[in-house]
Amino acid sequence: MGVNLSGRSFLKLLDFSTAEIEYLLALSRNFKDLKRTGTPHRYLEGKNIVLLFQKTSTRTRCAFEVAGHDLGMGVTYLDPSGSQMGHKESIADTARVLGRMFDGIEFRGFAHADVEELAAQAGVPVWNGLTDLWHPTQMLADVLTMQENFNYDLRGKTVTFMGDAKNNVARSLMVVCAKLGINFRACGPAERMPDDDVLEACRPIAEANGCTITLTSDPAAGAEGAHVLYTDVWVSLGEPSEVWAERIGLLEPYRVTPELMALADPQAIFMHCLPAFHDTKTTTGARIAEEFGISEMEVSDEVFEGPRSRVFDEAENRLHTIKAVMYATLK
Ligand code: CP
Ligand code: NVA
Repeated sequence: MGVNLSGRSFLKLLDFSTAEIEYLLALSRNFKDLKRTGTPHRYLEGKNIVLLFQKTSTRTRCAFEVAGHDLGMGVTYLDPSGSQMGHKESIADTARVLGRMFDGIEFRGFAHADVEELAAQAGVPVWNGLTDLWHPTQMLADVLTMQENFNYDLRGKTVTFMGDAKNNVARSLMVVCAKLGINFRACGPAERMPDDDVLEACRPIAEANGCTITLTSDPAAGAEGAHVLYTDVWVSLGEPSEVWAERIGLLEPYRVTPELMALADPQAIFMHCLPAFHDTKTTTGARIAEEFGISEMEVSDEVFEGPRSRVFDEAENRLHTIKAVMYATLK
């Protein structure tokens, strides 16, 4: 039977089968072709969506806005201070109001339970644009980018996440790799390894799909022969700035450097969901340089700007994949 995601929310990839994820990736490739060839695709004309952001965003917000417009929809953006939600109105009440007006709701916030509550109450599809636990739309863009680089054949390839392997992106990457038969390595200090709940959920999925999940604290072992070296910021949105000192101490050995890239497969690519701290051209980057004496954090500038880096392809692919998620769930 064909895949039908109509009416479904998109909260985390554990909720989706391998066939459903592959369907969304195929749809993303179609939308990318339509965009590249300038072919109109206003398939959802007359519908309206709302984007609720409790945390800041560049890529996710812009991808949802442009994708919504390309599909012919009306798009309303509510910034972290732009609605009553949280301070004057509960998530459940907000969900029931927005569900009466909009055909779909994007939510970026803190507690994953909040996006679950929205989805339970809204009566329309809710899309998770990042919570403290998961970043599922990012994963579709990442896998599409990997597919484009490895001839659409990822089974048996190895993806290594270097650094804060406990964070939302690392957890999500473990899930999508397990679902798609891609070997996954989490490479970081013991203190920042993925939580047991996600490991326990992923191990049987990986086994069923013939791939492995490895945890290592040795950067060389993590990089050795990998096809993708992936990293993310050392301190995520919503975490207090006091954790920087501890994280820098823990995570410096896991910076993706030219030396680590040299240990990876000869065809290996570098990936990062962005934004990235690879120089001192941001206020945070400059402050960290002044306080801790380091000018690069999770990735060296040479790797970020180098020929193996695919970070801006990944960013573009957010648009095509988010469009696929909205189309599949709203059509
Ligand atoms: N990768 C990502 O989610 O970027 P933004 O925080 O800019 O949306
Ligand atoms: N782990 C990062 C991802 C940003 C896209 C964060 O949550 O801030």
